[in-house]
Amino acid sequence: MSRTLHVPFTGHDREFADIGPELMAAVEQVLRSGQVMNGESVPRLERSLAELSGRSHARVVNSGTDAVYFALVAAGVGPGDEVIVGDISFVATLHAILRTGATAVFVDIDEDGAVDLGLAAEAVGPRTRALVVVQLYGRMAAPGPAEEFARQHGLVLVEDAAQSLGAEVAGRRSGTVGTASSHSFDAMKVIPAPGTGGVVLTDDPAVAESVEQLRRWGFSRAGAVVRLGHNSQMSSLTAAVLEVKLAQEERWLKQRRATAATYSAAFAGSRCVLPEHGEFRENVFHKYVLRTPRRDAVADALREAGVETLVHYPYALHELPFVAQHPHRVVSRGRAKKLAAEVVSLPIHPYLTDEEIDHVVTATRAALAADAR
Ligand SMILES: Cc1ncc(COP(=O)(O)O)c(C=O)c1O
Repeated sequence: MSRTLHVPFTGHDREFADIGPELMAAVEQVLRSGQVMNGESVPRLERSLAELSGRSHARVVNSGTDAVYFALVAAGVGPGDEVIVGDISFVATLHAILRTGATAVFVDIDEDGAVDLGLAAEAVGPRTRALVVVQLYGRMAAPGPAEEFARQHGLVLVEDAAQSLGAEVAGRRSGTVGTASSHSFDAMKVIPAPGTGGVVLTDDPAVAESVEQLRRWGFSRAGAVVRLGHNSQMSSLTAAVLEVKLAQEERWLKQRRATAATYSAAFAGSRCVLPEHGEFRENVFHKYVLRTPRRDAVADALREAGVETLVHYPYALHELPFVAQHPHRVVSRGRAKKLAAEVVSLPIHPYLTDEEIDHVVTATRAALAADAR
């Protein structure tokens, strides 16, 4: 390599350079209106998100973590219940489950990184109340098997779609699986908020009303305080910025998919497992994750070459130290733990330049080839 480029994992500054005027106009409109909370941008964004997914109701909240938590509580999950979850996800999924007072049941993953429903069947017990499915890395799993599983076992199904906004498989959008779904707008997500944000999507008006109460100190739509709640509102400013960014969703997805296609073509034949691409929206490439048994050596080589990488995630959920302090059950075959030791995520944001993409390709190919010796 003749010179070292620095390839950043995220491109927020470049995003601003691209759509800054629209963002600033939206911010100015909110500030001029004086309605920094409960302004028009909030219900407008909710309508757009409901429309994008095809759900009847969307309730925006302060984070994707709150969105999963509220979805579970609104669906009736609480103390004394057990919730089945795949053994690999961002730790927020687990926090949301434990915050309900329920017991987590960690079930190992299948070949695709989704919860292994065969093992999940072994894990179902008399107290099992819910199944949380996570659409990892932006790839949407066909919803049929999880829905059938939930039906068969009489479970509530919640979709943690934090990473898969815009994904679709066989005509079904991510955000439509189960009783309620959630997306996250944290800074690393495909539609990043200027801060944090999330949304709960549902077709059930009672679940929507429950989330409405939970996000605003227990106030009902009618204005009475009817329960214990939280302050998990989304500001009008955040909603206005997200509206502008949501309009870029398809353009950014095309860019990420093109970069992913370049990567996968370049790495074909290397000693690593490549992500499945699928049809246009089957994988929205929230992350581009390579799998190699010598992940640490590859990540080190990429760092030296100036390519920022991250690991999603370096742990199987059931092995996180704090889990031991909570009652839990584990059905593991060691697959999540193995995945956690082998994955590395390459930069995939939509503002990578051709030169940067070439550099990532060259550096990664070299790292994988060195790896093979
Ligand atoms: C799978 C998953 N679930 C939940 C969350 C929580 O979202 P947030 O960071 O918006 O709270 C995230 C991302 O952070 C995530 O990746």
